[in-house]
Amino acid sequence: MAISKKLADELEQRRAIALAGGGQKKADERHAKGRLTARERLDALFSKGTFQEFGLHAKHRTRHFGMDKKDIPTDGVVVGTGFVDGRPVAAFSQDFGVVGGSLGEIHSKKICHTLDHAVKAGIPVIGFNDSGGARIQEGVGSLAGYGQVFYRNVQLSGVVPQISIIAGPCAGGAAYSPALTDFIIMTRENAQMFICGPEVIRSVTGEVTTMDEIGSAKAHASISGNIHFIAESDEHAIALAHRLLSFLPSNNMQDPPHKVEPDLSVVDIPALDEIVPEDPKAPFDVREVIKLLADDADFLEVQELFAQNIVIGFGRIGGIVVGFVGNQPTVKAGTLDIDASDKAARFVRFCNVYNIPIVTLVDVPGFLPGVKQEQQGIIRHGAKMLFAYASATVPKITVIMRKAYGGAYLAMCSEDMGADRVIAWPTAEIAVMGAEGAANILYRKEIKEAEDPVAKSKELIAEYREEFATPYLAAGELMAHDVIQPRETRSAVALSLRGLMSKRETRPPKKHGNIPL
Ligand code: HXC
Repeated sequence: MAISKKLADELEQRRAIALAGGGQKKADERHAKGRLTARERLDALFSKGTFQEFGLHAKHRTRHFGMDKKDIPTDGVVVGTGFVDGRPVAAFSQDFGVVGGSLGEIHSKKICHTLDHAVKAGIPVIGFNDSGGARIQEGVGSLAGYGQVFYRNVQLSGVVPQISIIAGPCAGGAAYSPALTDFIIMTRENAQMFICGPEVIRSVTGEVTTMDEIGSAKAHASISGNIHFIAESDEHAIALAHRLLSFLPSNNMQDPPHKVEPDLSVVDIPALDEIVPEDPKAPFDVREVIKLLADDADFLEVQELFAQNIVIGFGRIGGIVVGFVGNQPTVKAGTLDIDASDKAARFVRFCNVYNIPIVTLVDVPGFLPGVKQEQQGIIRHGAKMLFAYASATVPKITVIMRKAYGGAYLAMCSEDMGADRVIAWPTAEIAVMGAEGAANILYRKEIKEAEDPVAKSKELIAEYREEFATPYLAAGELMAHDVIQPRETRSAVALSLRGLMSKRETRPPKKHGNIPL
């Protein structure tokens, strides 16, 4: 029996209404601002023809405020699955053109279905956030809806990667859903994220501020550290999501997308020999090291503008996906402070959850001294790095390039903190503290009594450096497994990674550890 024309026409009519969303006028308004509509974002995200929508005919149930007479196509959110580079991905896209993308019960149910599907299928989720927040007409039902989304964000955490794209307003409690996901990409223009806006802040505390200062992509990328990437446009945000996905497994039971070649070519990189300056106080850019180590110099830096004294990001070495963590000597001399510790610890935990080996590059003079740092809890925050590294069971390779002093040396994944391989360069100084401080303490009396204390101090510092702060002392104690020429580092790391691909490490069963938060 063929389907009747009437039924076929009804379906097409309903489809057309739902697909039109907020209508052409709203779409034109968005385009005029250089923005895409909810559906255009999904079209750009997924390979052509692969998007399968769920809930096109979904309808809100509100009877209040005349909402029963109002048509709300798709209930303001488009959800479904599609393919990115041949891999399935789930996504939702809030439609600001339909009641401001506000979240009501059915809107929430659709997002929740997407998240539930993602966890069942073991696939990543990408969410486009562009919403006026809780749908006012639906009252507490909207709040419950947010609760259900948050609950699922937490259930999915550590099971499938979750990426949030902030491409419009994301205000109040609603900002906590993205905050519960793994990565946030935010468009530079047209997007805001905040708990209390400037007006609320002014009326409650009297402080005068602007949205630019508290809720812009720039502020979140550089000051609050809430976001991981700034995008110049919707299209750029999607390109960043694609690039991020290219380094991630679909779920925690899979390996990341390694591109391992059968032959492992052992090639020296002479440029690495030139990186560390002769003057031990002169800085060098750790990104140069990372780019020389990474295949095709391909490095996706994460949180580039936040806590710049530490650099984190993804690349491949010998085809194996790795997470890089490196002190950045050009900023605050590469010391670890509160923000750097938070940034690195969270990244290490992300890598661990998704089976991504970690390569740690060390040039750290210590934790940043300062009253603010102590009062704001550098002990608690620094401890996160110790906790994150010690609890990570993925392959961990540490390269000590230069300074590795005191507690910060341990916090950068030393042998004793569980590194599987520790490689030191001849310039490595593994010590309780810097040569100057140590020599001045050890030889205080000699220096004081010398005819020329300054010259004596210099002489003793040099002596200390030669005798104690060499990599051979640490290597003698097996705290470094080898001392190599910098040029040999890429091959050494690549071989170690290859040898550790089937690493298994079991720990005593527990609900979870109690990381200092
Ligand atoms: C219902 C909403 C809405 C909302 C916007 N709209 N937000 N409808 N509930 N929360 C509707 C508007 O009525 C309008 O409908 C359309 O969406 C577009 O909104 P405009 O105001 O015209 O757009 P714009 O000028 O760009 O301003 C965007 C905005 C503003 C800054 C987001 O709309 C706004 O301030 N909205 C309210 C934000 C808010 O207070 N939300 C509740 C927060 S409480 P028409 O029909 O005219 O097109 C919350 C708690 C969450 O979210 C807690 C979770 C734990």
